[in-house]
Amino acid sequence: MRFDIFTLFPEMFRGPFDASIVKRARDAGIIETHVHDIRDYAWGKHRQADDYPYGGGGGMVMKPGPVFRSVEAILGVPDVEEARTRGEVPPIILLTPQGRTLNQKVAEELAKHPRLLLICGRYEGFDERIRRYLATDEISIGDYVLSGGELAAMVIVDAVTRLLPGALGYEHGAEEDSHATGLLEYPQYTRPPSFRGHRVPGAILTGDHESVERLRRRQALLRTWLRRPDMLESAPLTEEDKTFLRSLGWKPGK
Ligand code: ADE
Repeated sequence: MRFDIFTLFPEMFRGPFDASIVKRARDAGIIETHVHDIRDYAWGKHRQADDYPYGGGGGMVMKPGPVFRSVEAILGVPDVEEARTRGEVPPIILLTPQGRTLNQKVAEELAKHPRLLLICGRYEGFDERIRRYLATDEISIGDYVLSGGELAAMVIVDAVTRLLPGALGYEHGAEEDSHATGLLEYPQYTRPPSFRGHRVPGAILTGDHESVERLRRRQALLRTWLRRPDMLESAPLTEEDKTFLRSLGWKPGK
């Protein structure tokens, strides 16, 4: 998977891409991250990539020229709007609070592509022509406003990378995660068996794989019901799951 990130603040990506799973995935050749400075494609003495909005109002708006040109240079196409019309571009994703909200399903969908372009806006937003004639998708990471799309792009790179085969260093790593199963994850424990008097539940220590699995499933169901009951409405539930949930007082559709 190749990520191309377009930003006015390339230095922001140094730390986050140089640690942990993203770094390992880069070192293992599972992902490539290329961070491009939009200002390199801005003209004039001041290389201005943003400007005041027509009609007034506060803040600065990303100019279309530098953003279009940076994408064209990196994709090697003379006219990205035309290439987009022909369906010959990878997803070109704007990070904006106006986009569809990122969730595990969206991350899984993005992970199927061999290449993603992520465009980070700053200031008050993008000139609308970037949205209409360049982007193929718009993603928000939640209903709050960040100072720019950079942190959102990092979130996407992280959430997508950990889904790629081999990225976690162990097989089936991401399949049991919270959200991947449609449920929140069950509580986890590691050594020591007793910490400051707090003991690991005995059933987990038995080593009986089947009963551990049953207990974990029930704990995942319980936790989801307590914290995110909305998720139970679309989670794939077995008859046994439903019987267990009903015994707790859960009723479908409530
Ligand atoms: N830029 C500013 N706020 C954002 C958000 N919530 N998600 C994605 N990009 C953003």
